[in-house]
Amino acid sequence: MNYNEFVIARIIHILAVVLWIGGVAFVTTVLIPSIRRDKIPENRLKVFEGLEGKFGFQAKVTTLITGLSGAYMLEVMDAWSRYTDMQFWWLHLMTLVWAIFSIVLFVLEPLFLHRWFHQQATKDSERAFSVLQIMHIVLLCLSLLAIIGAMAGSHGYKF
Ligand code: HEM
Repeated sequence: MNYNEFVIARIIHILAVVLWIGGVAFVTTVLIPSIRRDKIPENRLKVFEGLEGKFGFQAKVTTLITGLSGAYMLEVMDAWSRYTDMQFWWLHLMTLVWAIFSIVLFVLEPLFLHRWFHQQATKDSERAFSVLQIMHIVLLCLSLLAIIGAMAGSHGYKF
């Protein structure tokens, strides 16, 4: 194994995670709360779809890069067997977070989620954005927990 290549994969992994989960944090803690303060429902949908649509592309690219660099590291370390060991729960959690986002971004959104949210937000904007905020908070918390676990676990913290 060329150790430099492994370290470069780790750098790429973290850069992608920063751009991706940082964006999710912005959407969750800044964008959605400020949109919810707008009194006009049509404005809310327009702003959300415009900005989240742009971030959606960035999220797709960074999700792909995170998954590829993560799989590369597992291959180089010959560490796939970690999936059978609960001590590496943080690897399971990283993979779960990655899988949820991938399914939402690449499958559910293009298939129906985008259209469904548009309909819900047109019918009852207050409720739709409240549910949206809760979903984002749950995903952000899971992501932060995965980051905490991965940082601690991969640097020798014994859980
Ligand atoms: C399929 C998805 C993923 C795979 C296969 C994967 C795999 C890995 C591997 C193998 C490592 C190095 C572990 C070690 O050195 O012992 C790692 C580190 C890390 N990953 Fe992931 N990962 C994935 C997704 C994610 C996601 C979604 C996040 C963020 C929510 C994340 C955040 C991190 C962090 C923070 C580290 C620690 C880096 C360090 O402290 O040096 N990963 N990942």
